Amino acid sequence: MEGKIPTLVLVLCIFSAAVAADYVRPQPRKTLDFPWDRKPSSYPQQVHISLAGDRHMRISWVTDGKSSPSYVEYGTSPGRYDSTAQGESTSYSYLFYSSGKIHHTVIGPLESNTVYFYRCGGEGPEFQLKTPPAELPVAFAIAGDLGQTGWTKSTLDHIDQCKYDVHLLPGDLSYADYIQHRWDTFGELVQPLASARPWMVTQGNHEMESIPLIKDGFQSYNARWKMPYEESGSSSNLFYSFEVADIHLIMLGSYTDYDEDSEQYNWLKADLSKVDRSKTPWLIVLSHVPWYNSNYAHQGEGDGMMQAMEPLLYAAGVDMVFAGHVHAYERSKRVNGGKPDPCGALHITIGDGGNREGLAHRYKDPQPEWSVFREASFGHGELKVVNSSHAFWSWHRNDDDEPVRSDQLWITSLKSSGCLAEKKHSLRKILMAP
Ligand SMILES: [Fe+2]
Repeated sequence: MEGKIPTLVLVLCIFSAAVAADYVRPQPRKTLDFPWDRKPSSYPQQVHISLAGDRHMRISWVTDGKSSPSYVEYGTSPGRYDSTAQGESTSYSYLFYSSGKIHHTVIGPLESNTVYFYRCGGEGPEFQLKTPPAELPVAFAIAGDLGQTGWTKSTLDHIDQCKYDVHLLPGDLSYADYIQHRWDTFGELVQPLASARPWMVTQGNHEMESIPLIKDGFQSYNARWKMPYEESGSSSNLFYSFEVADIHLIMLGSYTDYDEDSEQYNWLKADLSKVDRSKTPWLIVLSHVPWYNSNYAHQGEGDGMMQAMEPLLYAAGVDMVFAGHVHAYERSKRVNGGKPDPCGALHITIGDGGNREGLAHRYKDPQPEWSVFREASFGHGELKVVNSSHAFWSWHRNDDDEPVRSDQLWITSLKSSGCLAEKKHSLRKILMAP
């Protein structure tokens, strides 16, 4: 084991140097303190929920005790549980760290737009969640690159004030960065929000935590943040899709093979071929690394994935692409192939959740033709999909006791603008290609 630690330190140093060399990040806030608080062995901790296929929800939590049960009791009245679901559990070890018992239990079928009360493993407090509506309107809160600093707390407080159905997180959750107990403190920090509304996440570079010859990537992320990949026909927790009312959402993995021979690309093709735009007129994609980015931070890192996948997304008529990674906010025009295109996707970088690395405030000059709004401030976004043709997007800067709406836009769906009819032929050609 002695030889493994210097390797880890070396990897961390190389990684930090590569990130820090790009730009100067101003005034990050300190990582929050989490006083050690020992709980009874079956006490549910780090409770979070996620959508798990049609009318089902996955409840995830951690217990210190290895023999704690994985069942969830739930019902629509407080303290009265008409239903019980049995789940599964996992755990992992990472160098000197051993995780608690990580439970994942799927409950349902559930009524839409309904408050459920639930208890995990027969112990601890009662939690409550609200299922998303089956019909529009639906509201999403969106913030990536969260971390666990004073800024993160500010972003979460502002999200807590808004009325939303589902939280979307385009990667970089805990900034644990190899220090595994930070995954536990992150779970504790987000529990008040993530136990009440589904958190649908995709992974960023800070989730990777691989160590050459010792650890493959994404071990902690996959164990703790299980997403509905099996439910969406994917072979990997790193890319999957799900539906909320009239919206089909796809989560892609920026650090998983994406070229035309890859599993991810072929799963994406198969998933897109199943999308019925008369049932789900809106099509939204999230991934971590932005393809349209005029910030000097992480400049060009998304080029390879964009080259491989943008033609497919364009042919499929994707309405919006959300990304994180760059710690700032940027919104594009509808765009394709690097140029404004009324039938392309609208790209939004929202990696401004509040992590310890601070903001990325150096932008390329002049502003590219495709870029409409860019600002390096912490904040979050809200997307309200109102009906099959219109959605309202707003970006809220943390300013700081209240969120300040700094950018807003009505978005018209590609379906209602007639773009999809034009694309039918090119999509079929790509989908039919071997
Ligand atoms: Fe990142």
